[in-house]
Amino acid sequence: MDIPAPLISDLARRAREVSLRAYAPYSKFPVGAAVLTPDGDICTGTNVENAAYGLSICAERSAMFQAVARGAKRISAIAVYTPTVATTPPCGACRQVIAEFGTDVLVICCCDDASAERRYRLAELLPVPFGPEHL
Ligand code: THU
Repeated sequence: MDIPAPLISDLARRAREVSLRAYAPYSKFPVGAAVLTPDGDICTGTNVENAAYGLSICAERSAMFQAVARGAKRISAIAVYTPTVATTPPCGACRQVIAEFGTDVLVICCCDDASAERRYRLAELLPVPFGPEHL
């Protein structure tokens, strides 16, 4: 699916905005994510950390779980923003969760340097995902 440029910009903007509400007192690495669903809904999320560090969740999964709670079954794109000079790609766990909701998902990684924006298809980031066909 080709996503219009203004919609991609909107996703990036929403990811940046929501990063301001990240709960990241331990890493001090705030992350924001914005998910686009096939019906055009946009859901956002931040990383939420915990004093028991392993209970922390990434922004990408927060946003995807919010999308599911709003009724989404698939996702078309996800933007990830970090307040850095270089972009941050989704971690392996988030790649696997993205794969649950679509193989052709567009992943937009953005940061404070607009020219550094990187776009990937999920298949590039996770070429051989585990899926329901393996159960
Ligand atoms: N984090 C994300 O939210 N998304 C990523 O893509 C990379 C890492 C979070 C997890 C943790 O709260 C902090 O960034 C440092 O790893």
